[in-house]
Amino acid sequence: RRTLAFKSGDKDFEAGLKQAADIIREGGTVAFPTETVYGLGADALNADAVLKIFKAKGRPADNPLIVHIESKEQCSELAEEISADALKLMDKFWPGPLTLILKAKNIVPDITTGGLDTVGLRMPENPVALELIRRSERAIAAPSANTSGSPSPTTARHVIQDLDGKIDAILDGGAAEIGLESTVVDMTGEVPTILRPGHVTAEDIKKCIGKVRVGYKDRTLEEGEIARSPGMKYTHYSPKTKVILIEGDAEDVRKTIASIVSECHREGERVGLFVTDETAESVKADETYSLGKRNVPSQAARSIFMGLRHLDTTNIDLIVVDGTLNKEGIGAAVFNRLRKAADRIINA
Ligand code: TXA
Ligand code: MG
Repeated sequence: RRTLAFKSGDKDFEAGLKQAADIIREGGTVAFPTETVYGLGADALNADAVLKIFKAKGRPADNPLIVHIESKEQCSELAEEISADALKLMDKFWPGPLTLILKAKNIVPDITTGGLDTVGLRMPENPVALELIRRSERAIAAPSANTSGSPSPTTARHVIQDLDGKIDAILDGGAAEIGLESTVVDMTGEVPTILRPGHVTAEDIKKCIGKVRVGYKDRTLEEGEIARSPGMKYTHYSPKTKVILIEGDAEDVRKTIASIVSECHREGERVGLFVTDETAESVKADETYSLGKRNVPSQAARSIFMGLRHLDTTNIDLIVVDGTLNKEGIGAAVFNRLRKAADRIINA
């Protein structure tokens, strides 16, 4: 069955939005834009509909979904024991790229929560996302709209590449502004704990509620380690091509990249560089994709998944990533994704 596609700005978009809302209400799946990445949505309280998301993505059944809402009333229908700190974070960062893990009410099906007694809630800021939730009159469960394990989708084309024919419809709202998934914060413990870094940083959260703990690691967990967020234990963001991340001082990184490129060329292999503009001035290879300026990690956030997907199509044997990018602010979240995407990390 074909996937219906409607593009924001086209004259049939209004009708498309209405049809997409009907599809959600009837238990189907719709991919839609958010300010972070594209989501693959279904009615969060309809277990059969949510199962279709898992099937389309090939997602492990114990990995819970984020439920997207458009009002605080919807929030109290789905979650309970909402603390004063949680309310403060909602006031400050919703709508926006922040997911709060709260105690789930019984109406939320197990398939949506991955069998946990908690649920992740987020009010997105993208107007198309909000309109879809409003018109469908449903809370919408939506993981990123990619095949499980592959780089997250930041354009409608990425979604089509992975899921065409496997989902009912897609709403194309252009490229995602932020380009990285939301910050996930567990509000059910003593101290709010960041399970996934994103555009809303630890400092932002601390400024708002006075306390926060970092509960994620940048590498996939070793066997035997316990994951607080089921998503932590799976391989992530991996293109098919092997990825090496080089961290260290700019000059050491430049030298290491140059020697990797010459070694590969001696072996007859093609190399793609995913590098900051500063590093790009002094090293050359067969393909290059820009991470933006070294000191502007928001540019890297917007291009990370786009770049990994693009380089993967250029017939290279290796992707070399420049780890000289500034790690402050959203830079921490970019490094989290880069380190997870990397098959190998070298400290130059
Ligand atoms: O920006 C985003 O969050 C995007 C857009 C579409 O909203 N969604 C997204 O969903 O990134 P997904 O499924 O790719 O990532 C959700 C993450 C996973 O790591 C999952 O394990 C975690 O959130 N998560 C969801 N519910 C949870 C819960 N109840 N407890 C702990 N972790 C949870
Ligand atoms: Mg995902």
